Amino acid sequence: MSTVVMSRATRRRWWWFLWGLLAVLAIGIAAYFVTPYLTGSSTVPIDRSIPGYYVSLVIHAAPAGLALIIGPWQFVPRLRARFPRLHRVLGRVYLVSVVAAALAASYSAAVTPSGFPLQVAFYMLVVAWLYSAAQAYRTIRRREVQLHRIWMIRNYTLTFAAVTLRLYLLLGVQLMNVIPSLEYRDVYTSSAWASLLGNVLVAEYFIIQRMLAPLARGKRRSDATVAESPQPVGQDH
Ligand code: HEM
Repeated sequence: MSTVVMSRATRRRWWWFLWGLLAVLAIGIAAYFVTPYLTGSSTVPIDRSIPGYYVSLVIHAAPAGLALIIGPWQFVPRLRARFPRLHRVLGRVYLVSVVAAALAASYSAAVTPSGFPLQVAFYMLVVAWLYSAAQAYRTIRRREVQLHRIWMIRNYTLTFAAVTLRLYLLLGVQLMNVIPSLEYRDVYTSSAWASLLGNVLVAEYFIIQRMLAPLARGKRRSDATVAESPQPVGQDH
């Protein structure tokens, strides 16, 4: 009995640790990478001779940063239960931010000088980001709370690609010291693909293990109980 209680407590502690890490990384990356764009500057060299490129990055980065910061709080059950109105308001701001950031990103992706393989990764992200946001909105309008949760997990994992992309970039730049033939353009492209695919896999693993598997096990158990319970005499199946 006590081992069950302990393991639950440990699991809770783990969840809070992971949530804290997620929130700190989200706020840190948004603060460091987005703030320069609010003051006419940038953290990476931007070719300002490309028409509309810098402006599209500003229109993209500001709402994307906001979505990144709002996300973690929306997943805290106690906050949702105690302040349901705040959850709804922040949820709307989050979704509008995602749509604005995704539309601006589709222009940045069209004109970026960083090459076709990177553009493909960005367009896949844009489509998945918009589709999962639309599904999250549609499901909650129909009061399908569990489905809404699943689509929001998928959507925020894509938002979080902004964090993992920059972590992989940091790692890749270190690798360039070890592998001299490695070019920044290749590191950038592979980081974008790794963040897209890696984050999608993590989201699906979480959804299947934490949300769908317990439901499937519960269903199997209830099916077994029905099969094992004595049937009324004379009722053949
Ligand atoms: C997940 C969907 C996202 C997509 C499809 C996307 C797409 C893009 C694209 C196409 C660019 C231009 C890159 C280039 O030309 O090299 C860009 C840059 C940028 N994005 Fe995103 N982005 C996404 C999420 C985010 C989020 C959540 C943030 C919040 C921090 C963010 C912040 C930025 C910033 C600050 C830049 C300017 C480049 C830099 O300073 O690193 N993006 N994004």
